[in-house]
Amino acid sequence: MEVMRTLHAVIIAVLVTAIIVGGILYYFLSTAPKPKANLLEIYHWWTSGGEKAAIDALVAVFQEKYPDVGVIQSPVAGGAGYVLKAVMKSMVAAGEAPDSFQIHAGYEMKPYIDGGYLEPIDHLWAQQGWEEVFPAVVKDMVKWGGHYYAVPLNIHRANVLWYNKKILEQHNIDPASLETWDGFFEACEKLRREGITYPIAMGGIGKWEIAHALEQILISQGVDFYQDLINGKLSDPNDPRLVNAFNIFKRYMDYVNPDYATLTWDQAVAKVIRGESVFTIMGDWANGEFLVANKTFNVDYGAIPVPGTKGVYVLVVDCFQKPKGARHPENSEKWLIVVGSKEGQDAFNPIKGSIPARLDADINKYGPYQRSAIQDFKNAQYMAPSIVHGSGAPEKFASAFNDVASAFASNRNVQEACNGIINAIQAAKNEYVKEWKLIP
Ligand code: GAL
Repeated sequence: MEVMRTLHAVIIAVLVTAIIVGGILYYFLSTAPKPKANLLEIYHWWTSGGEKAAIDALVAVFQEKYPDVGVIQSPVAGGAGYVLKAVMKSMVAAGEAPDSFQIHAGYEMKPYIDGGYLEPIDHLWAQQGWEEVFPAVVKDMVKWGGHYYAVPLNIHRANVLWYNKKILEQHNIDPASLETWDGFFEACEKLRREGITYPIAMGGIGKWEIAHALEQILISQGVDFYQDLINGKLSDPNDPRLVNAFNIFKRYMDYVNPDYATLTWDQAVAKVIRGESVFTIMGDWANGEFLVANKTFNVDYGAIPVPGTKGVYVLVVDCFQKPKGARHPENSEKWLIVVGSKEGQDAFNPIKGSIPARLDADINKYGPYQRSAIQDFKNAQYMAPSIVHGSGAPEKFASAFNDVASAFASNRNVQEACNGIINAIQAAKNEYVKEWKLIP
């Protein structure tokens, strides 16, 4: 009996001790700081077929170099970043910046610079020798107050008219006849007579797709005119070049698919690929869509500068940067090094449609469209930063510009649109901090 009692007491004591020790252990293990996960989180808006294939190729280069880092891509759909731009502003303001995010060189960076949200990365520029390999025009766009705040991944050309080559051939239209607006509209009229009522494809779901076409039309009125526009120096709503641009846009809209406001940019390109439409004005990310659809340049499709813009290279430059307070600052820098590397750029750009921002790219990796773009860039008479894609003008103006373009696409009121542009310049007048000199 006595033995049994002692045994019970021992068992109970052991159990109680186990519970207490277990509890203490559980407490320490669950509250002990966990080892930090080795991650890289990046945000971008590359979700179309060509865009996704390109960013995946860049991430693959990163993963090969840093297999131990887990990459979280957080894509936010919406061409030209029209959704991501708003999302990112609130994330950054709330102290939730990711390790890096896609941004355009130029004015789009300004609110982040003003807010002190980005780290200067001069040390990376020096260490990687980037000063020597990037063109001056691009370097200037990522420098603020004498410091580098981003690294450019590519240079897209915005002023490109894409066409379905087979359809042009079937209708006996020579692409060389499209170099002037009159020639272009003649071709549109001929196609309409021969059964293609809406030969131009355009998107418009994010407004910027419309503004993109308008921007190129404005540039066709002269680089000096465009320079005044982006420097905020236009003040006359009756300026004949402004009025003329909207008159051209009015003619243009007459041949555009009536459902443009519901389409994304890549859905518009897809109409050209399928042969439902013949033309679309879009940046050369469109080339990525032709490529994923297995189309061959100069066989199935072709491209020329937008009428009246030969010799001008309208620049759209995608960059990444290192936000302050990034959770994985070391991985952020590793990412930037890959973005700025020859290997990274030569993996991404052949798929994306852009040319590399670096001047020492391996040309053998690029297809025929980009080879000709690389030549055009070298020989360009003028470089002009895009408004719509964040570089050329203050954000306040760029966003009003989208509104003017999209209102015009539906009401086609030239006077109202000209007034709208001049008012938008006035309203943003305190935000012009840069004087572009596009004329050498
Ligand atoms: C541009 C961007 C490109 C492209 C396009 C459509 O603003 O620079 O990389 O993908 O938007 O989303």
